[in-house]
Amino acid sequence: MGDLQRFDRFADFLVREFPAAERIWDIAGGMGKLNEALTAHGRTVLTFDVRPKHLPVAFAERLLTLAEPCTADLLVGLHPDGATRIIVDYAALHHLPFAVIPCCSDNSMPYKPWVRHIGEIARNAGFVVSEADLPITGRKRVVVGKWLS
Ligand SMILES: C[S@@+](CC[C@H](N)C(=O)[O-])C[C@H]1O[C@@H](n2cnc3c(N)ncnc32)[C@H](O)[C@@H]1O
Repeated sequence: MGDLQRFDRFADFLVREFPAAERIWDIAGGMGKLNEALTAHGRTVLTFDVRPKHLPVAFAERLLTLAEPCTADLLVGLHPDGATRIIVDYAALHHLPFAVIPCCSDNSMPYKPWVRHIGEIARNAGFVVSEADLPITGRKRVVVGKWLS
């Protein structure tokens, strides 16, 4: 099990980093705990995941694809496994910012090269990329993509 503080710490980070983002999509959000934490900060959050069992939060029980109509200001992913790449691709398509905390890769890459790879994909798509560490145990590196305004 990961650090149970990760939801609150990531929510704290996101509201500091993206104070103007009101509508947040939480991709691969599992049970919806990050959704709860961001909602407590006054954000409108929609979680995408394929899990039928989840908390009573706004929940799209499906995988995110590029065909999804966009109603978000910001895309986020906390240990989103196979959904990491779609977060960057979808954000690039709609010129949205994103923040992901990578976990497992979708191509058997080890963790550190995978984190670097995600940053490179984002830079190549035109994002200004930065990284930070959350005060949690386990996989804590946040990759942030923003657009020059
Ligand atoms: C390691 S869990 C993390 C869940 C949650 N974010 C957390 O930190 O507890 C990874 C989640 O990714 C979901 N997932 C994987 N690929 C996805 C995709 N393309 N779209 C939406 N969810 C996806 C899985 O169903 C699973 O719940």
